[in-house]
Amino acid sequence: MNSPNFATGIELKPIGQGFGCEVIGLDLSAPLPESDFARIRQAWYDHSFLVFRDLGMNPEQHIAFTRRLGPLHIMEREFNLPDHPEVMVIAKEERDGKPYGSRRVGLGWHSDGEDKRIPNAGSLLYGLTIPPEGGDTMFADMYAAYAALPQRLKRAIQGRRARFSRIDMHHVHYPDLPALTEAQKRDRPDVFHPLVRQHPRTGRSSLFVGRWARDVEGKPSEEGRVLMEELFAFAQNEAFTYRHRWRQNDAVLWDNRCMLHRAMGYDEERYVRHMHRTTIEGDVPRMAAPE
Ligand SMILES: [Fe+2]
Repeated sequence: MNSPNFATGIELKPIGQGFGCEVIGLDLSAPLPESDFARIRQAWYDHSFLVFRDLGMNPEQHIAFTRRLGPLHIMEREFNLPDHPEVMVIAKEERDGKPYGSRRVGLGWHSDGEDKRIPNAGSLLYGLTIPPEGGDTMFADMYAAYAALPQRLKRAIQGRRARFSRIDMHHVHYPDLPALTEAQKRDRPDVFHPLVRQHPRTGRSSLFVGRWARDVEGKPSEEGRVLMEELFAFAQNEAFTYRHRWRQNDAVLWDNRCMLHRAMGYDEERYVRHMHRTTIEGDVPRMAAPE
């Protein structure tokens, strides 16, 4: 893929085969011409996730840049910045005896909002304070996973939808949290998403699985569960994954419509980590046409 010319001296450095690209030299304190913005957005579609290096960015700039990519989704959590609810805080520290950020988020493979009817299109996560070790983020390329899927599995999922269930999986992923209340269950009903998803911008097909996916619509529950476990294990094959080791002032923009990610732990007793995330509104996932 040729690196396009930017008016503002930005450089693109692809990380791998069409999956992941570094963006060097973006300066959000100066106006970003539409032509340069469009090249960055195209790089995002081409590579699925972008790593912006040395990005100095305050919450206003973070919000304004994300908004150029699509309407913002405000997380329904208490850990948004008080003056900027578009920005979610990830931190373990407390202020005035109260947590002010989400602590252990995203520890299993998932895409953001996969258990909702309208999952999030993308997220832009910014590392303000990064621990010297640990706290990596893993990414997995679901275009590549789908392309490599054995024909037997492609046939098994063609035209099918998976059931994503917070109700069934809450106690599995959050064993330390209280059980969901009846009201919370009503708020987070099961949703069904196509197992082969067509990206609304690139048109490419990807495998759509994740940690909330439980079984398969129209198949006996046990059979669907076994199939989901096989697909989920396949999606995590290291041939499709990349491990991001954060540097101070990195920001990572990922596309939830064609990839999975997972957070890795770090030593919370020894180190401070402080991150900000904006989230882009998505649309109802579209089933890919059969091959
Ligand atoms: Fe996430």
